[in-house]
Amino acid sequence: MVATRIDGKAFAAKLRDRIAGQVAALKDEHGITPGLAVVLVGEDPASQVYVASKGKQTKAAGMNSYEHRLPDDASQAELLALIGRLNADPAVHGILVQLPLPKHIDEAEVINAIAVKKDVDGFTTANTGRLATGQKAMVPCTPLGCLMLLRDQLGDLSGKDAVVIGRSNIVGKPMAALLLADSATVTVAHSRTKDLSDVVRRADIVVAAVGRPQMVKGDWIKPGATVIDVGINRTDSGLVGDVDYDGVAAVAGAVTPVPGGVGPMTIACLLANTLTACCRANG
Ligand code: GUN
Repeated sequence: MVATRIDGKAFAAKLRDRIAGQVAALKDEHGITPGLAVVLVGEDPASQVYVASKGKQTKAAGMNSYEHRLPDDASQAELLALIGRLNADPAVHGILVQLPLPKHIDEAEVINAIAVKKDVDGFTTANTGRLATGQKAMVPCTPLGCLMLLRDQLGDLSGKDAVVIGRSNIVGKPMAALLLADSATVTVAHSRTKDLSDVVRRADIVVAAVGRPQMVKGDWIKPGATVIDVGINRTDSGLVGDVDYDGVAAVAGAVTPVPGGVGPMTIACLLANTLTACCRANG
């Protein structure tokens, strides 16, 4: 079997087009332009690339992009004061603080300072709690993008066996909550999981989010399974995912490539969340 290559790039482009259409209509009919503020602390090269890309795509969708760069030694108080100003600014509908933050910053305090209705990353404790308890929540962008690709590929996820590899707050935990909300049977595997390959082999759906280059091999995969690769690992041979694409594609039913799979979905979902936050703010 040769797996279907799930084209996240094309899916994300269509989603961005739909969002741009809605943004234009919002402007024409109500004179409102959604605004996204992105806060970057320090000089982390990967974060700089992500933030530049977010700004570019925000503007391309017709939204306002506000970029705030703070030096690596910015204090907790400075960062909290900036978030306070953005919370109070009616032109800002979404706030994203790029992670990771420098070591001296209390990340949880910073994230939870973001007004819940402007939390387009869905990282505040209020939004995570809402997601975990099945209430209306702002959903973290990467797992939301994965869920869209899974639903598009498989339709109803009810009763499917899903294994999420990785338990991060950004991907693994919210991914598990979303799959559970769609009535999948969910296992969260991580670095202490015993017999990981056996656990993965039971799954109809595999979401790999561990940050280990090409860790998931073809012989871990149940024939016909759908495999979503969240990994973005920079190696000497270029950008690779957490999945050994060629090995897995020989067994799986469908698999996302890296690049061109989950990556483009993350920013498209950020734009979708910003539009949602703007619509909610304006009734
Ligand atoms: N760093 C890596 N991924 C993300 C993300 O989705 N949001 C934020 N704020 N920081 C990140």
